Amino acid sequence: MQELKIMSLKNKINKNPIGIFDSGIGGVNVVKEIHRILPYENIVYLGDTARVPYGTKSKETIIRYSIENTNFLLKFKIKLLVVACNTSSSYALPVLKKMLNTIPVVGVILPGAIKAIQETKNNRIGVIGTPATIKSGIYKKTIISLSKKKKSVISVACPLFVPLIEEGWIDRLYQEKGYHIQHKKLDYYRIINHENILRYVATEYLSVLKQKNVDVLVLGCTHYPAIKTILKEVMGPQVTLVDSAEETAKFVYETLKRYNMLNIPHNKNVLGKLKFYVTDDPQKFKLISSWLIGKKINFVKKVVVENV
Ligand code: DGL
Repeated sequence: MQELKIMSLKNKINKNPIGIFDSGIGGVNVVKEIHRILPYENIVYLGDTARVPYGTKSKETIIRYSIENTNFLLKFKIKLLVVACNTSSSYALPVLKKMLNTIPVVGVILPGAIKAIQETKNNRIGVIGTPATIKSGIYKKTIISLSKKKKSVISVACPLFVPLIEEGWIDRLYQEKGYHIQHKKLDYYRIINHENILRYVATEYLSVLKQKNVDVLVLGCTHYPAIKTILKEVMGPQVTLVDSAEETAKFVYETLKRYNMLNIPHNKNVLGKLKFYVTDDPQKFKLISSWLIGKKINFVKKVVVENV
């Protein structure tokens, strides 16, 4: 973990928000988990929806976008940065840690890799992610470097999942629970029978992992928890899914605690504020993030983040 020379903080910055970014809707799964275990933390989220997907872009572009997103979040005096994107975490984490210096930076790779090592019994781990994350080989390197026993890591790129999830093609259980939220404004987001298509795509991508008999599957993209039910169904009950959003939230808790930066409320009825910024179409983001979080998300604003 990042070694920091944190100044004497003494609760001064504890009310400041946690800054979180992703290319789009995926990091909302991370927000949800952080808000669940740290309900008093204020959160500022940026979804770079104008430039999603990152997973098919070059290393240089991914680093540039990640720096621009971080610069935007720094305007809010964030006390900690969560890179809620596996693709950015794969390439930009060292640059961002250097850039932020005394502000802790948490990525999503290490938490998922540690959990996968803990969960596997047959030492055969599957990883799915964007083409860029898989190309970086980061999960394989991290898992192998942290393991005591020899591990087989089989990685598969799943480029179609992100565009489908950005379209709102997610597990039906989210939509059914939250469909009432805004359907009048956006009636083109009908509940259509998309699950068969997701199941078909997932069966195709995951077949090699089933053949190789993995007993753990790392969801190496923060978008994927949105289709966890289908992924679980395709892999079968014998395979444990590792959700990097859940694991990252635990890391955030540990990091804030370690640096004495947790926001301890005076009034336990007042929860932390969640503010969302996007670089395109706030309406669509409002609907899908409300589905994922399970409550109505009101604060979504469109912003420009690139250096012009
Ligand atoms: N959610 C992201 C990830 O974890 C990015 C997906 C994309 O933009 O391609 O990699």
